Amino acid sequence: MKVLLGVTGSIAAYKSVIVARLLTKAGHEVKTIITRGGENFISSLSISNLTVNDVFTDDDFWMPGQKIPLHIELARWPDVVVVAPATMHFLGKLAHGFADDLLTSTIAAIDRPVVLAPAMHTEMWNSRVLQDNVIRLKIFGYEFVGPYEGELSSGDRGIGRMAEPEDIIERVIQIGKTERKLRGKRIVITYGGTEEELDDVRVITNKSSGKMGVSLSRRAKELGAHVIAVVGRVEVQPLYYDEIYHARSVDELSMTLKEIVPDADVLIMAAAVSDFKPAGRLEGKVKRGERLVVEFEPTEDILRSLSKDKKPGQIFVGFALESRNLLENAEKKMHEKGVDIIVANYATAMGSDFIRGYILSREEKIPLKTLTKSELAIILFDKIAEKIEK
Ligand code: CTP
Repeated sequence: MKVLLGVTGSIAAYKSVIVARLLTKAGHEVKTIITRGGENFISSLSISNLTVNDVFTDDDFWMPGQKIPLHIELARWPDVVVVAPATMHFLGKLAHGFADDLLTSTIAAIDRPVVLAPAMHTEMWNSRVLQDNVIRLKIFGYEFVGPYEGELSSGDRGIGRMAEPEDIIERVIQIGKTERKLRGKRIVITYGGTEEELDDVRVITNKSSGKMGVSLSRRAKELGAHVIAVVGRVEVQPLYYDEIYHARSVDELSMTLKEIVPDADVLIMAAAVSDFKPAGRLEGKVKRGERLVVEFEPTEDILRSLSKDKKPGQIFVGFALESRNLLENAEKKMHEKGVDIIVANYATAMGSDFIRGYILSREEKIPLKTLTKSELAIILFDKIAEKIEK
């Protein structure tokens, strides 16, 4: 695997030397970027000797005469990026889109998984501004390993110690495994809410925002998949796709999926599909009056229909939105809809950046504490990759 290692200015940088060494010994190719702060703690020479590969600093970033800008060239190189240690300052810059040195500019142009291993004193880790930035980064899809509780360079004990090199590497290797399973796979991701017309100006829809779908798409693309987005009514900008279809109503969604799902390797049905549609669409704009009675009829259960033609090897994932009896209802849906995995979650997830519930498959029930939707996407694709293996 090609690993791009970022080293920022913390005393924990001595452990990045171990990360570089262990990765190289395990047969991975490692290129390194050291920030100005990082250079105060370790030398390019020691890392380049250990990795037998390139080490870059900001001196290289500002060198004239590059054919392709260095940060673009570097951003196109790795399978995965690891920043260890990641300081408070670096996380702050990343969380707010600053790209004023080689490392932040490279990560700005990266479309691969990025793992962050923070290291700082407990007071800094616990500060509101840092925690706010960590949440932002987790919403965007950056992955964290650590920090751990333990002894700190000040001699105090507390949270803020960089994760152990072995644990960072274990995560990198796991990402590599997932990536190998998903690279080139055609993944259909539906998201957003459906919309049924009542008359010429009014619609019935739901509170789905599409945030889950964007997080899933980002992760799928980071893992090298071919993402086919099927998007309903959304409040966010659809991003990270190779192909996009727009489907507003349940019938449009059904038609689109019946066309494209036969060629897909994975279907993730994150769309909030209406269970009812008006039995008859009213003409024009209905005028104000005493009251309006609209009769609704049930819609097709699209996932259930698609499952009937599910091919061997295809993986289907559903989402079950419940307000009560979460596990019981979700499990029932998994069987009835013929899906391999179902994400059981509560209505509070709608429109939110966060989600909690369970990932259910026939073999396991993984409880999820409150996570960002991007964190869920990371876990979900690890599980999907495991299924592809079988
Ligand atoms: N789904 C679907 N077609 C529908 C309704 C839902 O394909 N007409 C899909 C959703 O995209 C989701 C899964 O089925 O992946 C479960 O959706 P959910 O709304 O939780 O369940 P419903 O089947 O609608 O059942 P209920 O509303 O009774 O909970």
